[in-house]
Amino acid sequence: MKRKAFHKLSYGLYLIASEFQGKKAGYIANTTFQITSEPPQLAISCHKDNQSARVILDSGIFSVSVLKKEVNMKIIGDFGFMSSGDIDKFGGVSTITAQTGAPIVLDSSVAWFDCKVVNSIDLGSHYLIIGEVVDSDEISDEDPLTYQYYREKYKMFSPKNSPTYIEKAVLDAEAAASPKVLQEQEHEHDHEHEYVFDGKNYVCVICGFPYNPEEGDPSVGSPPGTPFEDLPEDSRCPICNAAKEYFKEV
Ligand SMILES: Cc1cc2nc3c(=O)[nH]c(=O)nc-3n(C[C@H](O)[C@H](O)[C@H](O)COP(=O)(O)O)c2cc1C
Repeated sequence: MKRKAFHKLSYGLYLIASEFQGKKAGYIANTTFQITSEPPQLAISCHKDNQSARVILDSGIFSVSVLKKEVNMKIIGDFGFMSSGDIDKFGGVSTITAQTGAPIVLDSSVAWFDCKVVNSIDLGSHYLIIGEVVDSDEISDEDPLTYQYYREKYKMFSPKNSPTYIEKAVLDAEAAASPKVLQEQEHEHDHEHEYVFDGKNYVCVICGFPYNPEEGDPSVGSPPGTPFEDLPEDSRCPICNAAKEYFKEV
């Protein structure tokens, strides 16, 4: 089996949110798709370790916000790499509720769906959760974000809880074993791990965020031109909050 073949499957990127007894939870998902038109139903695949899984199953409701192409990366960082049990993901975003009462995140979104859970299937690592859409709205005519654009533009990884996660070592081993012609084609199209560094740059091994010395990190008082080594020891990845020690030189 060739794992790289799975990268040819197309997806969008979504923010799934729910609430049970006053506790909100939400996560970033690429695995979200429409499965029937009448009644309109969506399916999501949610990792059992995600806080959101329990909240969705207990409440029986969830919302899906379709993220826009030029998404605010803080939303990806907070909702895609951190746990709703550790941080308040909803404090900095604007939300509404519709029919089910599930929080619906409006920031960086082009459309939303309000769903009630009608079925769920235990898939081992994930639950496949099916929701009937009871309300929806289009809130912007901007383009939605695709998983391919996310990988190419932001050069970011997806964490292990994503159903489409593939270990980088597996992809590297496959590439090394590929016939030369195929390897050349793959490198032509494979932007996911294509970093352009001058040898002194660092990348976060948790989420793939590349620290750019030319930009520095003004949020921690490090101006453009600050080498990674000179960042304060308590600096953190602006996307996934990983400590400085999780950055590796590339
Ligand atoms: C690009 C991307 C795609 C993801 N897709 C999924 C997905 O489809 N299903 C899933 O369970 N987790 C997915 N994740 C991981 C969750 O968003 C992540 O585990 C999140 O921190 C869970 O938050 P929670 O514990 O507050 O629910 C994805 C993350 C990213 C960054």
